[in-house]
Amino acid sequence: MNKPRILYVCDACGGRSLKWAGQCPDCGAWNTLVESRLPDRPSARQAASQKTTAQMQPLADLKGGSEPRYTSGLTELDRVLGGGLVSGSVTLIGGDPGIGKSTLLLQAAASISEQRRVLYISGEESLEQVGLRARRLGIANKPLQLAAETCVERMLELAAKYRPAVVVVDSIQTMFTELLQSAPGAVAQLREATGLLVQFAKSGGTAVFLVGHVTKEGAIAGPRVLEHMVDTVLYFENDAGSRYRAIRAVKNRYGAANELGVFAMTESGLKEVKNPSAIFLSRHAAPVSGSAVSVIREGSRPMLIEVQALVDESHMANPRRVCVGLDANRLSMLLAVLHRHGGVAMFDRDVFVNVVGGLRVAETAADLPVLLAVLSSFRDRPLSNDLVLFGEVGLAGEIRPVYNGEERLREAAKHGFKRAIVPRGNAPQQSRIEGLQVTQVGRLLDVLNAV
Ligand code: TYD
Ligand code: MG
Repeated sequence: MNKPRILYVCDACGGRSLKWAGQCPDCGAWNTLVESRLPDRPSARQAASQKTTAQMQPLADLKGGSEPRYTSGLTELDRVLGGGLVSGSVTLIGGDPGIGKSTLLLQAAASISEQRRVLYISGEESLEQVGLRARRLGIANKPLQLAAETCVERMLELAAKYRPAVVVVDSIQTMFTELLQSAPGAVAQLREATGLLVQFAKSGGTAVFLVGHVTKEGAIAGPRVLEHMVDTVLYFENDAGSRYRAIRAVKNRYGAANELGVFAMTESGLKEVKNPSAIFLSRHAAPVSGSAVSVIREGSRPMLIEVQALVDESHMANPRRVCVGLDANRLSMLLAVLHRHGGVAMFDRDVFVNVVGGLRVAETAADLPVLLAVLSSFRDRPLSNDLVLFGEVGLAGEIRPVYNGEERLREAAKHGFKRAIVPRGNAPQQSRIEGLQVTQVGRLLDVLNAV
């Protein structure tokens, strides 16, 4: 009964089939089925059959308040984790090569090791390399345990002996389990190895960090199930050439998703950027046309950003609409609203819009600044540089409120902005905001009159 079965597993979705085919029967992707051997596991089946009847229990009887958390030593990392590290949690960190995944985790591991036992498993670099990096980061004397190991079983043996509070696995693509014959990094290996590590984390209350490679398209390499198996998925991203790194939670069972932490890569490792508003503004000395400042929210905090637009004469039948950091369809929609309700036509103009600092903005609060940046460039009339705006623009030409208006206004005031144009309903109800003159608008025409 222990004869290994041959299965074909889809690289893209992790679906299994018994026969090879050019197209995955589950997700329809082409050329993604890979051979892998999955041994029958009688032990698992026996265990299932030995189980007595299923049990249920009332929700109210479940014990435990909030899960105990502890700090990773880096507040920006704690923020994306939802307020600190949870014991027994499994966190997957993805990102381009060289972006700083190993650096971040080594720094966090070293800092946690002052309070708790930490085991850092390096499957990619030799211990000498890790040592050299630690020296460079100035953390070489921290009580951190290292191991160069790629076999999950041996690694778990080690962990069972040392009983660490945190295990860092760099990277999951280099790990393999003895259960399978395929090479490390193969889909089946990734899934089994992650499964073993998740089981280990849950049974012993150890927090596990997994580093994951990303594919050309930017998704974590391997089957999507990897992201389902872990508790938290973080992506490390930056824009080309910048020394700033943003870490974003795309899934978090212990906190809010879409939370953003910001770091700067320096000579001596990653430094936290506590006040990211400052780096995403370009702060022109004199007002320039085509620039508008807005307050968006990333996760739980407001952040000032600058939207730039360039409107230029077009010599093409289809004028260009180029967006960097924004949704291009949204721009087309805003231009249509501007035409229909503001009487400004752009059909013979190229329109380019960019968010400064390489940030990606998905929030509708950026509608109003985009619209005004475009208009300012079109008319070649700068907006005053102590003005901030935010608000969603509707198809009927109405300006709709966004959530947490007051908090956004406070952030703007903190950074020295003097005037704000906001949707009706977003102005502070009772109190005034010190030093900020707030204009409320309800329709697009009100905005055009106000600026
Ligand atoms: P690394 O953490 O090795 O990236 P990953 O594990 O995501 O592949 O990133 C290292 C990069 O960061 C490398 O290009 C050099 C740079 N770096 C610094 O600029 N300063 C430093 O102190 C360190 C350790 C790395
Ligand atoms: Mg690395």
